[in-house]
Amino acid sequence: MHTIELKKDLYYVGVVDHSLKVFDVAVKTDYGTSYNSYLLKTNDGAVVFEGSKRAFKDEYLNNIRSLTPISEIKYIFVTHTEPDHTGSIEALLDENPDITVVASYAALANLEKILRRPFKKFQMLPGGNLSFGGYTFNFVSGLLLHWPDVMFTYIKELKCLVSCDAFGAHFASDDILLSKEKDKGGYKKALKYYFDNIMGPFASYVLQACDRVSKLEIEMILPGHGCIIDEHVEEQIELYRELARPLVPHADGNKVTIVYASAYGYTKEMALYLASRFKEDGKEIDLFEIDALNYASLKPEIIKSIYGTGTLLLGSPTLVGDAISLFYDILGSFFWTTAQGKKASAFGDYGWSGEAVPHLSDRLKQLHFSVIPGYRVNFKMDETAKEGLEAYYQTLK
Ligand code: FEO
Repeated sequence: MHTIELKKDLYYVGVVDHSLKVFDVAVKTDYGTSYNSYLLKTNDGAVVFEGSKRAFKDEYLNNIRSLTPISEIKYIFVTHTEPDHTGSIEALLDENPDITVVASYAALANLEKILRRPFKKFQMLPGGNLSFGGYTFNFVSGLLLHWPDVMFTYIKELKCLVSCDAFGAHFASDDILLSKEKDKGGYKKALKYYFDNIMGPFASYVLQACDRVSKLEIEMILPGHGCIIDEHVEEQIELYRELARPLVPHADGNKVTIVYASAYGYTKEMALYLASRFKEDGKEIDLFEIDALNYASLKPEIIKSIYGTGTLLLGSPTLVGDAISLFYDILGSFFWTTAQGKKASAFGDYGWSGEAVPHLSDRLKQLHFSVIPGYRVNFKMDETAKEGLEAYYQTLK
């Protein structure tokens, strides 16, 4: 059982999970995580903010019960509906079906599919509020941080912001409060990793949300995961802006990003030729050669480069009838709005089949890049193939 009084009548009732190694299938969690929930006692009954993952519903409910009977809960505020926060709401409503669920329009629609039962609803509107038990709960849009249904709640009298996954980290802290956390270095690493992987694709929305949040007087940020920010709140918001700014998509027409892999040097020869031609024409080139060993360390720079590039070129040989899988990891890191205004194309050498170029071109189209037909060569370039590469270059300019 893990409850902590954060302010008068406001308690932490979440679950700390030190054992988690992977979140959402793809995100490593070197520092575990927590599913943060909060309980506010009022004279008219209790209010809960956020649920927890279904696997931890018993601990979550016991945390609440240790402070108040579940029959006393009047509202649960849901900031977004990803099941790591909503998986336990079903169990909560099993015990008290009179609880009103407070959430955005989109979140309420999602909850109908998650709960599959009738439930009492109150719809959060951006800029709207709900008053209850002597408290005012103001709703602040957190659109696309990192789901479309996100709505923050600002508890006016306590100067606390319930911030969904924003300002959070997969970081299991038994102390919960940032001011008490001893491993500040680990927390910072976890926060940045979380930002890059979860919030990064929505960086422009992060900046909009930071502007909204900065207008509030905040003493505590209560995120969905990791430490509660109870110190240096302004600095944490500014840190979020700093993390977001380099990832805001824009298309710099003078910049070209070339990412390539090359098993035997043939695709590399193509990549270097294209890079040199762009350079001769005065373009700024970001050139990355990737392989299974260096990819993880190069990925953040590659992602950053693509956010700001005007032209993206992917050079891949064909392996097992497709492009090298690392390219799909790169292209899976973006929300489609990143591609707006950017040109892209694929090139590469191949041996006995050459699917990499058409397959990558298809994926680039799915992401809404302006795709220029690719260029592929069977084994070593001869003079004709070199002329073809120059002709290809002319289409990319
Ligand atoms: Fe922590 Fe978006 O769920």
